[in-house]
Amino acid sequence: MSKETMRLDRFLALTNAAKSRSDAKKLLKTQALTVNGVICRAPEQQIDTDHDTVMLNGKQLIYLQYRYFLLNKPDGVVSATKDRISDTVLSLIPEADAKDYFPVGRLDKDTEGLLLVTNDGAFAHNLTSPSKKVPKTYLATVTGRVSEEGVKRLQNGITFSDFTSKPAQYEFICEKDGFSDCLLTITEGHFHQVKRMFHAVGNEVVRLKRIAIGGLTLPDDLKPGEYLEYTKEQLNETIYRVD
Ligand code: URA
Repeated sequence: MSKETMRLDRFLALTNAAKSRSDAKKLLKTQALTVNGVICRAPEQQIDTDHDTVMLNGKQLIYLQYRYFLLNKPDGVVSATKDRISDTVLSLIPEADAKDYFPVGRLDKDTEGLLLVTNDGAFAHNLTSPSKKVPKTYLATVTGRVSEEGVKRLQNGITFSDFTSKPAQYEFICEKDGFSDCLLTITEGHFHQVKRMFHAVGNEVVRLKRIAIGGLTLPDDLKPGEYLEYTKEQLNETIYRVD
């Protein structure tokens, strides 16, 4: 990690010891904080994040330059950093300040499931780059049941006015009351791609949930709106794992 130097009040806000820099100033007046073992009350004190040891009430504060969150996106929340009308995915992760953090790719407002949020632009760029062809798996509830001909078209590629979809994997799960659940795995990320692919074969998506990105799956016990933090190494090992 590259060396980074910053003011102590910013360091406290970025390590979540304080909610903001003004909160950090209040905290410095009232609580026991040491920098390299020496009591410090100066918000302007420069901290070298690689070498200085900052302790608050006897506990070391660790600064991570980049952080990675896996969110179970609920229906009705927008995959953006700000929106004038609806809640955004960033409003669900208090540690992820919308000034620095962003969702990796987009899910439609009514799509649920696995969404990564980070402040690491290089990581996001790598994951969303079409050349990487990272597979994304969606659980779709569609009207009716996809015909044999429709399955072949999903698997072989469908030509739209703006692109031709790459071969996808389709798996039927079950059918009930005129709807069926199925899995579709695609390696691209065109706007409304899954909905458009099903529409093209005569089935409308009524519910869509992303359940995997490469080998990274949405944990079963993570409820909509909940999130987990991972390291970059954990994510890269899991996403790009070849079983
Ligand atoms: N495909 C869609 O149609 N919507 C999404 O949100 C993601 C993939």
